[in-house]
Amino acid sequence: MMRRRGRAGATTPRPGRNAPTRGIDTWLVHGAEARDLNAGSVVPPIYQTTTFHYPGQYSEAAPPRGKVHLYTRLENPTTTQVARVVAGLEGAEAARVYASGMGALSAAIFSSLRQGDEVVALDELYGNTLTLLRDDLPRFGVRLHWVPGQDSSRVEEFVTPRTRLVVLESPTNPTLEVHDLRTWAKAAHSVGALFLVDNTFATPVNQTPLSWGADLVMHSATKYLAGHSDVMAGALAGSRPRMEGVRHLSETLGATLDPLGAFLLARGLKTLGLRMRRHNENGRAVAEDLEDHPKVLRVHYPGSRSATQEAICRRQMKGRGGMVSVVVRGGLNGAHRFMRGLGLVHRASSLGGVESLASLPVETSHRQLSPEDRRARGIDDGMVRISLGIEDPADLITDLRHALGSV
Ligand SMILES: Cc1ncc(COP(=O)(O)O)c(C=O)c1O
Repeated sequence: MMRRRGRAGATTPRPGRNAPTRGIDTWLVHGAEARDLNAGSVVPPIYQTTTFHYPGQYSEAAPPRGKVHLYTRLENPTTTQVARVVAGLEGAEAARVYASGMGALSAAIFSSLRQGDEVVALDELYGNTLTLLRDDLPRFGVRLHWVPGQDSSRVEEFVTPRTRLVVLESPTNPTLEVHDLRTWAKAAHSVGALFLVDNTFATPVNQTPLSWGADLVMHSATKYLAGHSDVMAGALAGSRPRMEGVRHLSETLGATLDPLGAFLLARGLKTLGLRMRRHNENGRAVAEDLEDHPKVLRVHYPGSRSATQEAICRRQMKGRGGMVSVVVRGGLNGAHRFMRGLGLVHRASSLGGVESLASLPVETSHRQLSPEDRRARGIDDGMVRISLGIEDPADLITDLRHALGSV
């Protein structure tokens, strides 16, 4: 049973190692600013260019005043600025932005491993992360050890001297289980492995994994960071040497974020703090409202499953986010009826936008898994994953109750 709680916790993140000295909302608004010396525009311009003039030696022109750039796949002022904002948010020394979350993840993974290495990963990860690790890495001679969700607190039993990388998501997609970042960091570091956390669901407003011992933190910035369902982007943050270690493969794999995408991400980030406060409130309101609904068999919400989960949330999260998954009566058929009954909430995959979205993990994010694999991970056929936007909570609840009426 989910216990009712008071207001969501404060949304200011626990300061990371290199957190901005001002408040998070100030950093979000002003962090990407650089004085535009040409036109003096308040909003930094988009450097919509693939290439840059060579500095000084071939021309009479004065060399650029700032950093010298060569080619946008390697670096561009617009992407560099937004990466700086992400680094500050996560309390990291450095960050890079990518063309998608999977671009960020693959750069991190392939930079960290070589043939013969082993990876330890939670077995409840985003579907494409799971298939990249499970189906692709073994082709390069990398061995996987999977940690079942219920064995999360015993992760140190899964690492070996060959473990080079430990991968975790918390809260998980779509079951919204939380995992103790400190315990996982300790297990990784006991064998000298890197600890990589996918922080997409929590966002740095609610959780800063680097401050709990992670070495690298990644995002599908397509989701909350950009926040408006209109840009594909990814981000990776960590210490300067760590990020220097991913530079080569980031450049050669080529999933660089384009300048226009970087501009949209920078614009979205300015309201991340405000949006997350509303997402947190709406997530809690809906989770509490649906918990006792007769058509709902189970509500998945961070901390709801057990006292241990609640304790982990209280320790490492400042807010629980805007994701709620519900298992409705009637299996897949019931879930289809629910989806047809929605009016305000869009039926669409993805999450983290200002508009509420509902999707069936069985048919979207986790369709690549066999029914047995889904069952083992607690992904029921009747599960509907709901990403609560920033609409008025009363309207959302009315719409969801109406949809449940058709189940
Ligand atoms: C938790 C999580 N990680 C990574 C990804 C991949 O991100 P992208 O779609 O931006 O490549 C997703 C996408 O849904 C996700 O939900």
